[in-house]
Amino acid sequence: MENKLKTLKNKAEKEIKETDNLKDLDGIFRMYLGRKGELTTILRSIGKLPSQKRALLGKEANEVRHVLQEAFDIKQKELGWYKEDQLAEVLDVTAPGKKLQIGHLHPITQTRRKIEEIFGSMGFVVADGPEVEDEWHNFDALNIPAGHPARDLWDTFWLKAKRDKKPLLLRTHTSPVQIRYMQENEPPIRIIAPGRTFRYEATDAGHEINFYQVEGLMVDGKISVANFKAVIQEFFTRFFDKDVTIRLRPSYFPFTEPSFEVDISCVLCEGKGCSSCEHTGWFEMLGAGMVHPDVLRAVGYNPKNLQGFAFGMGMDRLAMMKYKIPDVRMFFASDLRFLQQF
Ligand code: PHE
Repeated sequence: MENKLKTLKNKAEKEIKETDNLKDLDGIFRMYLGRKGELTTILRSIGKLPSQKRALLGKEANEVRHVLQEAFDIKQKELGWYKEDQLAEVLDVTAPGKKLQIGHLHPITQTRRKIEEIFGSMGFVVADGPEVEDEWHNFDALNIPAGHPARDLWDTFWLKAKRDKKPLLLRTHTSPVQIRYMQENEPPIRIIAPGRTFRYEATDAGHEINFYQVEGLMVDGKISVANFKAVIQEFFTRFFDKDVTIRLRPSYFPFTEPSFEVDISCVLCEGKGCSSCEHTGWFEMLGAGMVHPDVLRAVGYNPKNLQGFAFGMGMDRLAMMKYKIPDVRMFFASDLRFLQQF
């Protein structure tokens, strides 16, 4: 009888372990522990034994029953069936929901969309151009001929590949989009061109070899600096959602005349002076100017009856100011701890 119990236990344990569905498990349960099950029968027959044997075997048989019942319960749970009282524990209706991991737009993309929205509401359309540019669009047409010292302003990644035997490069600014757009469209023109730009320079907190700019261009019969000031003032006020003061300083770009740098009052200290603005109260935000007549000529326009303004600003810089980010390289490090904050 003892051997029989042992064999039964091993056999039943093995079968329970190997089942992979509740239906089979139920069959096994019946076979051993059911009303007419093997173990149940043994347990019953033990009752008829002489008392000494009965005590010993009874204890053992009950132990086997216990072990099998437990193995059975564990398996049942594993296969996805819960007793009602266990179910109550598992289903805690007050537990907080599981948070879905949803991605979101990169802060630079959010910035770009905001810029497009603001300029869009002022009637500017979004124009696009290639990141791999030719020398003519990136430089010559913008009044920066080969050998001109102004080319030093843009440290360029030149490519080995050529197009029509002419050198190709990674665009150093979004200004070539001005040229491409004017070549294909007639005034009046009102565009912005956000996009990726590249410069061959050492990186630091303020510089990356890969960065983003947004170009602006408005050309018509009577466009003046006053129009530019109004547009850019409106843009900054809406972008930073506060009153910002702007100031123009004389500067130089080969494709604009006159040219200026545009500063805005520091949005962190409101112009009072803080460490971020080097205690000047001002932040340099963009380069701009009135489109040079040579540029208009290069695209086949007549500068006698057309004029316009152009500007180019760093999108990364705008995002840095808006979100108070101290280092431009953080945008491209793909560190989720940083990105998830936006
Ligand atoms: N393209 C210039 C730069 O990258 C910025 C600029 C654009 C200046 C348009 C004037 C007009 O530095």
